[in-house]
Amino acid sequence: MKTIIEPFRIKVTETFKPIERAQRISALQTAHYNVFLLKGEDCCIDLLTDSGTGAMSTEQWAAMMLGDESYAGGKSWYKFEAVVREITGFRHIFPTHQGRAAEGILCMTRLKAGDTVPNNSHFDTTRANIEFIGAKAINLPCAEAMDPVFDAPFKGDMSLERLTQFIECSDVDKIPFCIITVTNNAGGGQPVSMANIRAVKAILDKYGIPLVLDACRFAENAYFIRERESGYKNHTLLEIAQEMFSYADAATMSCKKDGLANIGGFLACNDDGWAEDFRNALILREGFPTYGGLAGRDLEAIAVGLREALDYEYQAYRHATVVYLGDRLIARGIPIVRPVGGHAVFIDANAFLPHIPASEYPGIGLINSLYVAGGVRAVELGSVMFAHRDEAGNEVPAPLELVRLAFPRRVYTQSHFDYLIEVVEESWSQRESLRGYRITYQPKLLRHFSCHFTPIDR
Ligand code: F0G
Repeated sequence: MKTIIEPFRIKVTETFKPIERAQRISALQTAHYNVFLLKGEDCCIDLLTDSGTGAMSTEQWAAMMLGDESYAGGKSWYKFEAVVREITGFRHIFPTHQGRAAEGILCMTRLKAGDTVPNNSHFDTTRANIEFIGAKAINLPCAEAMDPVFDAPFKGDMSLERLTQFIECSDVDKIPFCIITVTNNAGGGQPVSMANIRAVKAILDKYGIPLVLDACRFAENAYFIRERESGYKNHTLLEIAQEMFSYADAATMSCKKDGLANIGGFLACNDDGWAEDFRNALILREGFPTYGGLAGRDLEAIAVGLREALDYEYQAYRHATVVYLGDRLIARGIPIVRPVGGHAVFIDANAFLPHIPASEYPGIGLINSLYVAGGVRAVELGSVMFAHRDEAGNEVPAPLELVRLAFPRRVYTQSHFDYLIEVVEESWSQRESLRGYRITYQPKLLRHFSCHFTPIDR
């Protein structure tokens, strides 16, 4: 059969009651036009993130009942450790409450002010953890990544030329590690090829710089490698993931993504010295090393979820849902990043709203219109999230103004996506009347989560 179906049946449902348009307008005003400040129950289709928002399987719920809540050496820890070791091969594994906690421990133990960390593209929490120490986060994406409509199989790749040039122009002692983020979330959820990971590792080896994998969506990345890179057709996703991790010296992971869990993460490495530092910081910040920031039942759910994420049928279904939405938006002329990524469809807000300059945040204009049109909550990955300040303190816009429609795992059905397409079409038909926004309040760090906006009158 040609139709790819959900490889599961729905056993438990969660009711939501859509609110009326007038209520949505008022909810948005109360939230200072920042959808992060809306109540979840006021959102009909919530595509803010794919992180921790998935539905767990019966096997995961059943495993949770087996949670061993011993403070030290619980049975659940050994199951978790065995699965993470099988997939990643790392000698030292540290559970954390989520990905950013793993990043925090990595940065507080390995970085000093004045250091630099290259990445294909840093995600917001990674960048914030690096900058918090006084170090610099450098993005070195491949050239194709900068063109939203250029169709290439591995637009998440790091630029090998830019990496080499960057290292040669730097003091190597001030590059304590390099990161590859799979898939490249900030750049459209685009995958990284095995060839690229291997080549980056070879370059880093010449200079003795360790490679860290930001592995949040490692299973989706493995699926893309199997489908798009020659030589992997007959490999299982587990084998591909194992090879990806084999090139890394350490990894940070948010199990809220490809752990198919609602909370959790880990930090892992091979070096005994790094492990010693991680362990001490973990105890200080998260918890004893055999539970880290998690309950025993969470470790159980993740141990099952990590394996389920590597199921080929599941990944084929998940990718089919993203393609389903992407194809229909393209057919309507709506500008999206191509090809569609692993966990989301990214709309190019610059092309959608060319009359709104980056300084007026076109992504926010589009997001707020999607919410008013149909109660859909999306997230901006543009200048609100990623702008930086130049030496004179002026805001330098992000290279791309994207709006991400992230897909929670195993949550929405095809009719939800058909509704979503209608909502995007409504915003598209009104695009010329949509407005830009001005920020009226912002905190110093990670401003997108809590800043306030006001619409700009034309
Ligand atoms: N790295 C990447 C690539 C991520 O996408 C995220 C989270 C993290 C690290 C941090 O993990 O949330 O468990 O602390 N991304 C979410 C998102 C929040 O919406 O893309 P965390």
